[in-house]
Amino acid sequence: MLTETISFYLYSLYCPTKLPVMTLSKIAGIGRYVPENIVTNNDLLKYMDTSDEWIQERTGIKERRYAHRTDETTTTMGVEASRIAIDRAGITVADIDFIIFATLSPDYYFPGCGVLLQRAMKMKEIGALDIRNQCSGFIYALSVADQFIKTGMYKNILVVGAEKHSFGLDFTTRGRNISVIFGDGAGAVVLQPAQEVGQGILSTHLHSDGESAELLAMFNPGTHANHWNDGRVLADFDEAEIGQMFFSHAMVDKAQVFPVMDGPAVFKKAIIKFPEVIMEALKKNGLQTSDIKVLVPHQANLRIAQYVQQQLKLRDDQVYNNIERYGNTTAASIPIALCEAWEEGRVKNGDLVCLAAFGSGFTWGSALIRW
Ligand SMILES: CC(C)(COP(=O)(O)OP(=O)(O)OC[C@H]1O[C@@H](n2cnc3c(N)ncnc32)[C@H](O)[C@@H]1OP(=O)(O)O)[C@@H](O)C(=O)NCCC(=O)NCCS
Repeated sequence: MLTETISFYLYSLYCPTKLPVMTLSKIAGIGRYVPENIVTNNDLLKYMDTSDEWIQERTGIKERRYAHRTDETTTTMGVEASRIAIDRAGITVADIDFIIFATLSPDYYFPGCGVLLQRAMKMKEIGALDIRNQCSGFIYALSVADQFIKTGMYKNILVVGAEKHSFGLDFTTRGRNISVIFGDGAGAVVLQPAQEVGQGILSTHLHSDGESAELLAMFNPGTHANHWNDGRVLADFDEAEIGQMFFSHAMVDKAQVFPVMDGPAVFKKAIIKFPEVIMEALKKNGLQTSDIKVLVPHQANLRIAQYVQQQLKLRDDQVYNNIERYGNTTAASIPIALCEAWEEGRVKNGDLVCLAAFGSGFTWGSALIRW
């Protein structure tokens, strides 16, 4: 073992150019899809007590898109974005050898959207993995895909982030702190081994802190049985000897079937973790904030993105935001924004792109990419 180590060391000293260079994965194609239906802040006034002024001032959102109630699902939107990404990668559906689908609003509780997309796109019997990491879902999905490419296991991985939030939010005044924020849409990328040395995903960084799991969550349907919450009732159950705890009439009657969020607590944690995980990525690669061409933060809230920009002393042209047009599309927000940035020519070959997200869990993460 010692002899092997010494000879490898001598080999690297004298033959540095012959050392194997790890293949990175690159984004070979990117696509996005947002539904046609534009819902402005004023449109929401007929359902709840809110105002355009309040929403814009607190979140930066002017409008969002809502999917067609029956014709569009999380998967169908993912399919639309995927077709574009695959086309732009210059490959065909038959070339895709693995699917990773990130969403918190799946078509079915199970199976996941990955297999529905595989069926809808008439793909081969390839693997399909669903990721449930909410707002950081796309970064987690990208990171998993990156590992598969680096090990050489797959050559063309389709990574999708899609959400149909409009199907299940509380559109009464009771749910206004959440329902005004979220929108529908999808984004997708094709990940391939990079051909050029130094090009591709330089590193990804993933974190979690389950202490705050209940601060941004949807508890029901679930199997928690109020176990985790120190006596706090997250679900009421019907009288029954067995079963009927996943869904109950009481849950519906008591409006326990909607997401809940402690907005200020999420805000406070997000503005710490976003800069932290971006700096972690830069430090790992010996880079600085001034090296970033474009930061694409998860579009949680414009105020969060502005705070992060200020903390990191980034210029306006170094940060891409589109939350004013789409709201928070959770797992779809980064690929949609990255795709728009690329379409607008803000991301070119050789540019350093940073992706960062924070959300429910809490989970957060970043990815640094040499485009
Ligand atoms: C949600 C968020 C916009 C709320 O802003 P805020 O300034 O923290 O507001 P609060 O929740 O403290 O509520 C302030 C008041 O506005 C009211 N309010 C909440 N939503 C409202 C709405 N849509 N319209 C009008 N008033 C609203 C509240 O009821 C509260 O009223 P009160 O003072 O009479 O009790 C903000 O906390 C936020 O953006 N947090 C981060 C959320 C996020 O990014 N989530 C996604 C993570 S990925």
